[in-house]
Amino acid sequence: MNSTNSKAQANSSISIIPKPARLIHSEGSFLLEKTTSIVFSEGIENKEILASYLSDQITELTGLRIQKNSSDKVFATNLISFQLVQDVEWGEEEYSMIIDQNGVLIEAVSASGFFYGIQSLLQLIPLEGAPEVPFVKILDEPRYSYRGMHLDVCRHFFSVDFIKKYIDLMAMYKMNTFHWHLTEDQGWRIEIKKYPKLTEVGAWRTEKDGSRYGGFYTQEQIKEVVAYATDRYITVIPEIELPGHSVAALAAYPELACNEGPFEVENEWGVFDDVYCAGKESTFEFLQNVMLEVIELFPSKYIHIGGDECPKASWEKCPLCQKRMKEEGLKNEHELQSYFIQRMEKFLQTKDRRIIGWDEILEGGLAPEATVMSWRGIAGGIEAAKQHHDVIMTPGTHCYFDHYQDVNYIEPTAIGGFTSLQKVYEFEPTPVELNDEEAKYILGAQANVWTEYMHTSDRVEYMVAPRICALAEVVWSRKQQRNWKDFQTRLNHHYSLLKQKNIHFFVKAPHGGVNKNFFFNKMVLPLEIDSENTKIRYTLDGSDPDIYSSVYQQEIELDKTSTVKVQSFHSSGAKSRVRSIECIKIDPLVADTVSKLNVGLKYKIVKGKFASIYDVVEKEVLNCGVVDELKFPENIEAEFYAVEITGYLKIDENATYTFFNYSIDPALFSIGEHVVIESDGLNSRLERRARIYLKQGVYPIRMLLVKNTPYANQKLTWCSQAFDQIEIPTTHLCY
Ligand code: ACM
Ligand code: ZN
Repeated sequence: MNSTNSKAQANSSISIIPKPARLIHSEGSFLLEKTTSIVFSEGIENKEILASYLSDQITELTGLRIQKNSSDKVFATNLISFQLVQDVEWGEEEYSMIIDQNGVLIEAVSASGFFYGIQSLLQLIPLEGAPEVPFVKILDEPRYSYRGMHLDVCRHFFSVDFIKKYIDLMAMYKMNTFHWHLTEDQGWRIEIKKYPKLTEVGAWRTEKDGSRYGGFYTQEQIKEVVAYATDRYITVIPEIELPGHSVAALAAYPELACNEGPFEVENEWGVFDDVYCAGKESTFEFLQNVMLEVIELFPSKYIHIGGDECPKASWEKCPLCQKRMKEEGLKNEHELQSYFIQRMEKFLQTKDRRIIGWDEILEGGLAPEATVMSWRGIAGGIEAAKQHHDVIMTPGTHCYFDHYQDVNYIEPTAIGGFTSLQKVYEFEPTPVELNDEEAKYILGAQANVWTEYMHTSDRVEYMVAPRICALAEVVWSRKQQRNWKDFQTRLNHHYSLLKQKNIHFFVKAPHGGVNKNFFFNKMVLPLEIDSENTKIRYTLDGSDPDIYSSVYQQEIELDKTSTVKVQSFHSSGAKSRVRSIECIKIDPLVADTVSKLNVGLKYKIVKGKFASIYDVVEKEVLNCGVVDELKFPENIEAEFYAVEITGYLKIDENATYTFFNYSIDPALFSIGEHVVIESDGLNSRLERRARIYLKQGVYPIRMLLVKNTPYANQKLTWCSQAFDQIEIPTTHLCY
């Protein structure tokens, strides 16, 4: 092997994420052995915990059990040695690491620095072969002090074991703040001794199918989680939502609302009008008592008080809220919200705590010392920084890990949006709009993990990894060190590492074609080959692909009805989800011969909510009419309904047509007898794509659209050969 080659190979063994500030790599490696000892210099805090952590992690990665004698003896060689640095210039989280023939030397001024050194060391250990770590010199410290991951445990509830796994994942990537979203409309998840009904009543909801769902953390469990996080240098910030997103609390204590209730813990997602009454003193007494117990459990300087998405409808009608506004000289309900937040801030300040709120807390005036979490884009963050308030950036565009991470016709149902790994990676937390002085108020960034569409912890992991790796590099590494291609190369090691840690993660499934195809004689299925590290494997017999399945090299040709299952296989052993593609052989569609046609389509409205498109038939018709597009007619006097639209589709050119439908609620589109699009079930939030060859002529069509949710939004678009989606022009629709 020539030296260039060996150097290239050695370099590829360094895959640390987030990328260290400075790293010099030299030839050679140090072999970890049973006889390797962990030693500490005088005065290092938590050395037993650090030693156990390191030794357990090495065992988990390699099977090797090294010496954990955290004695202060300093041997000359074969050491992992921790040396305390007495240097005021060093940051709390800074570390240096030298690996040479004597072993590993990690230096820092505090335990958190040592902990981050350990994380980098662990990422240098190969997962196969001898446990040799390459010779390196690293100097490293984070770019931002706040490196956060949020988790909503209210929409879905997760066990203490999973919370610890989540914290471990954060620790691997040097994230230091866990924002624990503990209260919501759909569930109250923290035991409060003074108000037992919060968890007796508020932690449980009745789902639409009648089943009960819920759970909560006892105060003992919360202490256990906080201690676990503390050992990993992660601060846990609890979020107790106010004044909105509080229906679960109101279900337990309806007297805290403006109107009497009764309320039920919500079983739908959304934003609800019932919120804490801002006029009653008892509301503040309740929230302060809750906070007294919360601050006993969480040593964090910050308490998150929510503040987002609080509708003002109840306050507008409530005599007590209106009285409060008059007495306090508040001009509108936004100022009443501001009054609410400021009162909570003042109270928490008396306990030496600071508040964080979502960016709505800017409306009606910011509480004097509040930190703003900018989620509706970065504008709120910019405004707050200009007002000299601390800011945490968490814009929906780049930091919402509940969004789709790939095209939504392939991915499992998510809330919407599109936040790919690359988009996360390209996020810049400090906006160019800020001058150097203002930029100091940007403490860092955070990913938010809202769990409406994450029913299981496996799904949470899938949505979080590897996007957490991208965010970690955004908040830790120097801006000029970020390089998407280099990051992707380093990520290969992390696929193996995540797999070894039994963490589910996203791998891009094969793109190309659509998931439903109608064809005559034969069809070809084109897939896109993504990178040299990934193979697409497929089957035609309905089974899931495995490592023995055919490798996709050219378009798949089909001459009979088949279900094609395709899957990406990464060289690390990681696999994507299986994508299922239906290819249905049909007889050529015969165009109808209709003599006279009118412009538009006929529609019928049926009132009600429908869980399925197959429930819509044979219900009472509200009204009928003509529409000129394939979408909800306007001015329908019903909140929830289904519409059946029928007529003809006029085709001018022989071609394969692709139809797209994005729907939140159930939808069906058929041409003649063929169901082209079927998007059934509540809250499907999926895009469906189908392809069918049509000759010139007119074809009977039928579309069923359900509106179960106020924000239901359905649209059928199409295109011919090219993938430019447009709405079907009215000139092609007739009856
Ligand atoms: C939020 O996503 N409602 C903060
Ligand atoms: Zn009120």
